Amino acid sequence: MRSEHWSTLVQPARPVTSGSATAVAQPNIALVKYWGKRDERLVLPWSDSLSMTLDIFPTTTHVRIAPDAEHDTVVLNGRPATGEVLRRVTTFLELVRNTAGRRGAAVVETDNTVPTGAGLASSASAFAALAVAAATVYGLDLDATALSRLARRGSGSASRSVFGGFAVWHAGQRTSTLAEADLNSYAEPVPSGDLDPALVIVVVDAGPKAVSSREAMRRTVDTSPLYGSWVAASEDDLVLMRDALRRGDLDAVGSIAEQNALGMHATMLAARPAVRYLSPATLEVLDQVSRLRRDGVSAYATMDAGPNVKVLCHRADADRVAEALRRSNPESSVHVAGPGQGARLLRASG
Ligand code: DP6
Repeated sequence: MRSEHWSTLVQPARPVTSGSATAVAQPNIALVKYWGKRDERLVLPWSDSLSMTLDIFPTTTHVRIAPDAEHDTVVLNGRPATGEVLRRVTTFLELVRNTAGRRGAAVVETDNTVPTGAGLASSASAFAALAVAAATVYGLDLDATALSRLARRGSGSASRSVFGGFAVWHAGQRTSTLAEADLNSYAEPVPSGDLDPALVIVVVDAGPKAVSSREAMRRTVDTSPLYGSWVAASEDDLVLMRDALRRGDLDAVGSIAEQNALGMHATMLAARPAVRYLSPATLEVLDQVSRLRRDGVSAYATMDAGPNVKVLCHRADADRVAEALRRSNPESSVHVAGPGQGARLLRASG
């Protein structure tokens, strides 16, 4: 089924009585950030974003039809999910079922190897894997673009984890109608020249964040006087970033990414009340990254909706950067990631 049509199809709902599928996806880290929605239900952003999918921290998700069940069940890391997690997954399954014209509850078992809700992009890998597995089980035959649009509805950043390496997520024209933007808002791969990058991830705090990124975005869009400037600056950053990637210029990629991340945090610090994810430990890592640069190492920091820091560098420098950051932050766990694969189906039956 082509991406242009699937959201408008109306079919009588036919029951699905069996079938299961297992999919895997990795998180991605944005180098030009997504921060703020134009439409919450459709998960349409105000600006384009660009990311690198990681080769670590996979989420594996198994979806199976539960023919006798009335409701969906979600098991996250071996424990039954409740509240917001259950609601988001069930809403997503409803979307898949409505799109496929099918009905029938499912059991979703998902294992995250990255701390959940700590600003380490767990929702990106989670909804990319769920999109692949659920689409398979309910019989939706989607191309990569349609899959990215579907994953977007679970979590915006998941649209990018459908693809490996670098990916850009198009916001969809701001002047277009919501229906048009819905069709045009998806991710696609971006060429990255001869770049051989690594992201060194410094987990200064693996605990869940106090404010969800969803709520923090909403507050920023609604109340931050800097928000409009952030969107305009981010659009410029995206143009420069695509060019820097094409040239394979890691210093340019890194400095655009660092400035873009600091701009995102500035716009949320200006929200009322302020959203502050950066902690003293984050700032210490930022100082260490500046020191590495003064010592001649190409290293650039980016932070998401949490205090943890991801440091972009040449792959050849990754061990040295990781070692320096481990030495200065004995309390933190430090991981080295390279560009990884997009979301994929591992097995399916029935
Ligand atoms: C700071 O994709 O988690 O990581 O669409 O509300 O689920 P929802 O938000 P989410 O936000 C990610 C924000 C970010 C920046 C980014 O990944 O681009």
